[in-house]
Amino acid sequence: MRPLTAHVDLDALRHNYRLARDLAPQSQALAVLKADAYGHGALACAKALEELAPAFAVACLEEAVVLREGGIRTPIVLLEGIFTPDELVLVDELGLWMAVHSDWQVQALLQFTPRRPIPVWLKVDSGMHRLGFRPEEAASVWRQLSAAPTHATNLHLMSHFATADRLDDAYFQRQMTCLDALAVELKAPLCLANSPATLAWPMAHGAWNRPGVMLYGSDPLEAPNAASQRLAPVMSLRSEIIAVRELAQGEPVGYGGRWRASRPSRIAVVACGYGDGYDRHAVDGTPVLVEGRRCALSGKVSMDMLTVDITQVPEATIGSEVVLWGCAQSGETLGIDEVAGYCDTISYTLLTGVLPRVPRRYHGGFC
Ligand SMILES: Cc1ncc(COP(=O)(O)O)c(C=O)c1O
Repeated sequence: MRPLTAHVDLDALRHNYRLARDLAPQSQALAVLKADAYGHGALACAKALEELAPAFAVACLEEAVVLREGGIRTPIVLLEGIFTPDELVLVDELGLWMAVHSDWQVQALLQFTPRRPIPVWLKVDSGMHRLGFRPEEAASVWRQLSAAPTHATNLHLMSHFATADRLDDAYFQRQMTCLDALAVELKAPLCLANSPATLAWPMAHGAWNRPGVMLYGSDPLEAPNAASQRLAPVMSLRSEIIAVRELAQGEPVGYGGRWRASRPSRIAVVACGYGDGYDRHAVDGTPVLVEGRRCALSGKVSMDMLTVDITQVPEATIGSEVVLWGCAQSGETLGIDEVAGYCDTISYTLLTGVLPRVPRRYHGGFC
């Protein structure tokens, strides 16, 4: 078998969830499982968390159906609500909770007769300027929904932060001021905090928080804090050396000869490429662990392979373990946030970008 595997540590997932919960003891933390749990496998992650998390969140009905068909009975919030009015039938049947961000969704809900009233999270655009009602519209929509208790129940205000990853940020404070005023006016419970706000902004902790990427062990903060340093990596992308080349000084490696040996060099060919989701933008020098030691990506990433300078690891040979991010079997760690920096991207794209041909292997068992 090709030796590339994404190992998923479910104990680490639970550790990170407990951290999110313990940072905000007055709030409930729903676990964000959208985009196949950020590439980790939504059903496996839901099973691992179902006795801890009081609710899950996904982006769309299709993602909720996967969880329900897999036997998950925990409440599930549709973060973007419905995409067409006919989806309300399944929302009702599957007992889902839904966000509403647009007037057409509110009207569809008010024209639909559910078997049980649907828990509704009213999305307010407090500054992200993506989805949601403007703050000045929110009160009237809230009252419309409050006046329809056979359609909508358990109303919450929900909003998303544009800049919570930056500490000491005035824009975040502006969003907070707007939301606090609305919450007081409507006596509304709030659901605001994503991972950075869960980690760094206690003032944003509401009745509910919505941590996502931190559950998977990635630190979204611009500057790590004491809490974010306690996160544990969940995915370890591990492969092996499949060939070793001895290069003379001056010889290039791979497409375009981007990397050239500045001294006699040993180059490892590793079974992992952009066809697996490893980012082709990774520059020379991107760290890779070989036999638990930091080495440097050398040469452009190909579809199925990448190349690493292993000159300083003489014991490395065909079959040696290679960690693209996460933990080596010997315990050394290569943070996904660091790798993302070398690819000019964020951990979110690396994690959600791991393609289906990479088998996921789960460790740590379910609850
Ligand atoms: C509406 C909403 N809530 C919560 C999250 C979770 O954010 P994070 O992964 O930064 O915790 C996201 C992520 O994109 C989101 O779109």
